Amino acid sequence: MCGIVGYIGQNDTKEILLKGLEKLEYRGYDSAGIATLNDNGVDVFKVKGRIATLREAVDENVHATMGIGHTRWATHGAPSELNAHPHQSTSGRFTIVHNGVIENYTDVQEDYLSGVELKSETDTEIIVQLIEVLYNQMDDVSAAFRKAVELLKGSYAIALIDAENADTIYVAKNKSPLLVGLGDDFNVVSSDSMAMLQVTDQFLELMDKEVVIVQRDGVEIQLLDGTKVEREPFTAELDASDIEKGTYPHFMLKEIDEQPLVMRKIIQEYQNEDNEIKLDPEIRKAMTDCDRIYIIAAGTSYHAGLIGKQFIEKFANIPVEVHVASEFSYNMPLLSEKPLFVYISQSGETADSRSVLVQTKELGHPALTITNVPGSTLSREADYTLHLHAGPEIAVASTKAYTAQMAVLAILAVDTAKAKGIELDFDPMQELAIVANAMEAMTDQKDLMEGLAKDFLSTTRNCFFIGRSIDYYVCLEGALKLKEISYIQAEGFAGGELKHGTIALIEEGTPVIALATQEPVNYSIRGNVQEVVARGANACVISMKGLEKKGDSFVLPQVHELMTPLVSVLPLQMVSYYAALHRDCDVDKPRNLAKSVTVE
Ligand code: F6R
Repeated sequence: MCGIVGYIGQNDTKEILLKGLEKLEYRGYDSAGIATLNDNGVDVFKVKGRIATLREAVDENVHATMGIGHTRWATHGAPSELNAHPHQSTSGRFTIVHNGVIENYTDVQEDYLSGVELKSETDTEIIVQLIEVLYNQMDDVSAAFRKAVELLKGSYAIALIDAENADTIYVAKNKSPLLVGLGDDFNVVSSDSMAMLQVTDQFLELMDKEVVIVQRDGVEIQLLDGTKVEREPFTAELDASDIEKGTYPHFMLKEIDEQPLVMRKIIQEYQNEDNEIKLDPEIRKAMTDCDRIYIIAAGTSYHAGLIGKQFIEKFANIPVEVHVASEFSYNMPLLSEKPLFVYISQSGETADSRSVLVQTKELGHPALTITNVPGSTLSREADYTLHLHAGPEIAVASTKAYTAQMAVLAILAVDTAKAKGIELDFDPMQELAIVANAMEAMTDQKDLMEGLAKDFLSTTRNCFFIGRSIDYYVCLEGALKLKEISYIQAEGFAGGELKHGTIALIEEGTPVIALATQEPVNYSIRGNVQEVVARGANACVISMKGLEKKGDSFVLPQVHELMTPLVSVLPLQMVSYYAALHRDCDVDKPRNLAKSVTVE
């Protein structure tokens, strides 16, 4: 994931590009660069590090009225100045910035670039070299650009400049986000409207496989065959990308897709310049001072708490109890001598949780709230707050807040372990970065998820989710997601528990979705699948790479064993989404529900 910007107009472009990139830094921040073009040719400035470092590297004396910029989250090629964008073709004529992953870059290299010496390890350089090779054959930049784009497979948002033409930025998009912003005598390009709200609030949405010729006095959207496309701009409100669906049919789908981005934002927010965990020392002290943690939450947040318990107990060696908020007062356990209460709540407004907070505060116990809304009631009334940084979650069914809660809990657990002097062979930031990439790979496979929803859930009245160990907790969340938006009666079960009663409900065609992501229980969960199949169930097995077996419906990209809930929940979210869609349910606003549950 990366962010790109471009500007062509009357003013000096450096500051506009740098300010834009600062706003896009949440999309990646390991290296950055800009390229500007004036009568003296192209100037490229790039650095390993953040935009602040790039700002220092840019020559104040270079003036240009067009340019492109990039902030990078490394995928192909380590973060380095060499691999930072912009990248240039061998002759230096073409310069490119790119956000996305080119899946067929080795094929392109073999088929078209045999004589070309590459300077970087990136898939992006392949694109700019390909454009140069094609231009040398076709003698037409627009046509070479379109042809190159046609040959690419994967995701891309691209901006290209030609040293021989200071009047045009060439733009293309597929799967990666990209907007063109419109102004008087200038136009801009940006991954996110927020980055260019500094100069315009008028934006054109781009569709996949479109190219755009961006000039000072106009823009032209084209299909890959050169056909022109007319489109009206939209007005971006402040933070529009957060609160608008954009090209998405539903907020839920948008929020599912945002999860890789949220992971990277969390890494950015919880890591300091020295790559250490950045956390309020008072929270660290509260965590290390306590002798037991009581997690209080409801619904999806409760499910995140169950995973949080695993992190805290395994990493920080502190006993944890997880309680459903609405039940806590009736069944208050015997508390330890030095308890710490941790309230997990996306909205920070859930009344059930708040009533426990009021009670435990009266008892004099410290409280930490983990929430997506720092100014919320639970945040204000607790002693400490950890922010999820997931951005507004608008769909009633929680998706990105759930994975954000688990990510923040993992960081908190590791930080506590370190503060207690426990040696760990686990870097949460690195693992979250791997998770983010895995999430991205999965959100690219929506057709498959839609197919699974059709095959398993299109007519059923009920569905079972089974898993063992940590998979069981994700099954609880998968079942909740399906229930709340598709109204299919769904239950999450521990695989071994089915035979103690519930297996009586399995009949011909009953869908059973099984998670198999944990090596120690792979054999036993597959045994449970056989048991339900023998009784007529329609089984869908979602396994982890390395543990897959013939016939599995979906294989998740490999991540650390403890981090699997952050990725295994994505297919469950997507399958629930498509099941609801095919049943004509109101996905974002399911019946009888509300986003903030402020009654007990
Ligand atoms: C389900 C969902 C709910 C909430 C629950 C608690 O998708 O969103 O189960 O998790 O109502 O809400 P918060 O997290 O705001 O306390």
